[in-house]
Amino acid sequence: MLDPKIDSFLKELEGFARENDRMWNIPPETGRFLHMLVRATNAQSALEVGMSNGYSGIWIASALRSTGGHLTTLEADPWKVELATENFAKAGLQDIITIVEGDARENLGSLEGVFDFAFVDATKDQYLTYLKLIEPKMAPNSLIFADNAISHGASMQDYFDHIQSSSGLEGVMVPIGTGVMMALKDA
Ligand SMILES: C[S@@+](CC[C@H](N)C(=O)[O-])C[C@H]1O[C@@H](n2cnc3c(N)ncnc32)[C@H](O)[C@@H]1O
Repeated sequence: MLDPKIDSFLKELEGFARENDRMWNIPPETGRFLHMLVRATNAQSALEVGMSNGYSGIWIASALRSTGGHLTTLEADPWKVELATENFAKAGLQDIITIVEGDARENLGSLEGVFDFAFVDATKDQYLTYLKLIEPKMAPNSLIFADNAISHGASMQDYFDHIQSSSGLEGVMVPIGTGVMMALKDA
């Protein structure tokens, strides 16, 4: 179950996003979907590309709290890094989150370790670049989620094509929120 304190903080952030239209947060149902999947798969090492002020990161990390896992999240905008740092501390999740500030296209390649859960939600026409950098770091049978797969599908066609043509990935479109492309990295 989602911690009631986190639940009420997420609602506060939803109010903030209604007044600050540059947060571009995922819809709450997508957050709950990711939260449930982290728990159901017992994910230990999650990666997020496109953190904004930390809204989706809080959904993911609050689930990692119960699995004993850790989140690494990437964001290019220093103002958003400041907001997220504050929000992760308010949510009491700062000890299980590492923020990597800067362009994900430059930073993904040098991340250490293996990930078993990834959420991509940054610049839509860069998704394929992120995926190519993420793929070698993903564990067998791990999941890679990409947001806005319905709302911004036209900008993500190369991403879909890559998944469809890759022998190491299986994909399915999940019609939740603005659409989530869910991919499984084969063992
Ligand atoms: C849709 S928002 C992320 C929303 C966040 N996932 C949430 O639901 O709370 C996309 C974010 O990605 C960041 N971004 C875009 N391109 C990026 C890149 N190449 N590297 C790192 N961050 C990037 C933007 O600054 C923006 O904050």
